[in-house]
Amino acid sequence: MIPTIALNNGATIPVIGFGTYQIPDGSAVEHAVAAALSLGYRHLDCASAYDNQTGVGKGIKKSGVSRSDIFITSKVWVTDMGYHETLNAFEKTIHQLDTDYLDLYIIHWPKPNSRGCYQALEELYAQKKVRAIGISNFKPHHIREMIEGEPVVPAVNQIEYHPFLPQDETQQFCQQLGIRITAHSPFMEGRMFHVPALAEIAARHKKSVAQIVLRWQIQRGIITIPKSVTPSRMEENLQIFDFTLDEEDMRIIASLETGERSAPDPDHMPF
Ligand SMILES: NC(=O)c1ccc[n+]([C@@H]2O[C@H](COP(=O)([O-])OP(=O)(O)OC[C@H]3O[C@@H](n4cnc5c(N)ncnc54)[C@H](OP(=O)(O)O)[C@@H]3O)[C@@H](O)[C@H]2O)c1
Repeated sequence: MIPTIALNNGATIPVIGFGTYQIPDGSAVEHAVAAALSLGYRHLDCASAYDNQTGVGKGIKKSGVSRSDIFITSKVWVTDMGYHETLNAFEKTIHQLDTDYLDLYIIHWPKPNSRGCYQALEELYAQKKVRAIGISNFKPHHIREMIEGEPVVPAVNQIEYHPFLPQDETQQFCQQLGIRITAHSPFMEGRMFHVPALAEIAARHKKSVAQIVLRWQIQRGIITIPKSVTPSRMEENLQIFDFTLDEEDMRIIASLETGERSAPDPDHMPF
């Protein structure tokens, strides 16, 4: 059983989800999603930009796990950010995923003048077609610009978050507004596995570096969505609830901050 936490509207979300970025559509993502669900994952992180949502939908069916037991997140891509474009993108996404609602629908990247996109999310939320709405890659100034005067506060901000980039300022800002943080790229797409200080902590706890990084994220009160196509790693990434990092471990990990990112800085987007 994976623990869940409450979002600001009362919905609950499993603290670990399964990331689906860069898993090819078709049998690859279908098998990966079915394997993850059979191992106990109940939270899938998807996006139209990943071009694999049809396979994700097939993986869910193949798993036999009931839709109502799975928390599904998807994201509006940057080319769909008008009001009507967002509503159309939502219909396409739920068709691809073969579902009739999303648990969480978020804006993939901040863009100027995209209030219409957020208002479309609020409309979908009012119609109960999405159970929570949110944002991704938003810094505090993007959040202020987007939600000022809007009736619904986002439930989640999904941001790049790992020991090189702990994002304290955004985390504190979001916490004050009741917005939960989800860590994307929790392993920095693999770079965390080459950090000697993390390997030392892992050896001390008889755990893997992956488990140390995920446990650190959970102990900082955030949700995390590791991706793996390897069932043994999927399983390993769930085994993080039987140990605790102590203050010294947390201090060492805090000292690793470099500010490096694997995704672009949201203030300097190429698109
Ligand atoms: N909102 C956004 O803009 C945004 C951006 C990026 C990512 N995301 C989300 O965040 C999710 C995770 O990020 P990510 O896919 O970029 O990368 P990641 O989860 O940081 O790293 C994935 C890499 O780590 C490997 N791995 C996973 N578990 C491992 C373990 N226990 N031991 C050793 N290696 C392990 C995987 O290998 P194998 O797969 O070969 O096993 C893969 O190479 C994405 O899938 C996506 O859902 C969102």
